[in-house]
Amino acid sequence: MCSEDPLTVGEVVRRTGVPVSALHFYERQGLIFAGRNSANQRRYPRHMLRRISLIIVAKRLGVPLSDVAAVFATLPTDRAPEHDDWRRVSLIWKRQLEERRRAIETLERELTGCIGCGCLSMRACLLLNPDDTLCHQGPGPVRLQNGASVGRPARRRPCQEQGDPPG
Ligand code: FES
Repeated sequence: MCSEDPLTVGEVVRRTGVPVSALHFYERQGLIFAGRNSANQRRYPRHMLRRISLIIVAKRLGVPLSDVAAVFATLPTDRAPEHDDWRRVSLIWKRQLEERRRAIETLERELTGCIGCGCLSMRACLLLNPDDTLCHQGPGPVRLQNGASVGRPARRRPCQEQGDPPG
């Protein structure tokens, strides 16, 4: 066997520890690619091992597959990601981790304000009603009154006072 020979799915599973079903899923998501041999069996280019390793790392970091796909779209498909590629990707994911940490810290502060409260007020509780903007359009079911379709509410901004100007 030549060191450049493509890998069978079994070899990829053995080398990465990723189950076949996950490999097929990643392939359907466009994260990895496989060719086919004359018997129509998948054959993975060896540099897919590096991509799969990146997916494993991303999963450990909690990076959603959609974000992995966005980053992978910037990587070469004909060779393994190299040092500079990994540096760029790891910086992107580090920034995302920092954003998540800040969001968690904000939630933690808001939750701390709720401890011992229990009001669950649409007006006062930042956890129940974060970023309230509809409050500026008056009381009641504003979306229904305006004929908007019922669905997931839009992001809202805090409404601390009834008379706050919209903005
Ligand atoms: S429960 Fe009262 S502010 Fe959140």
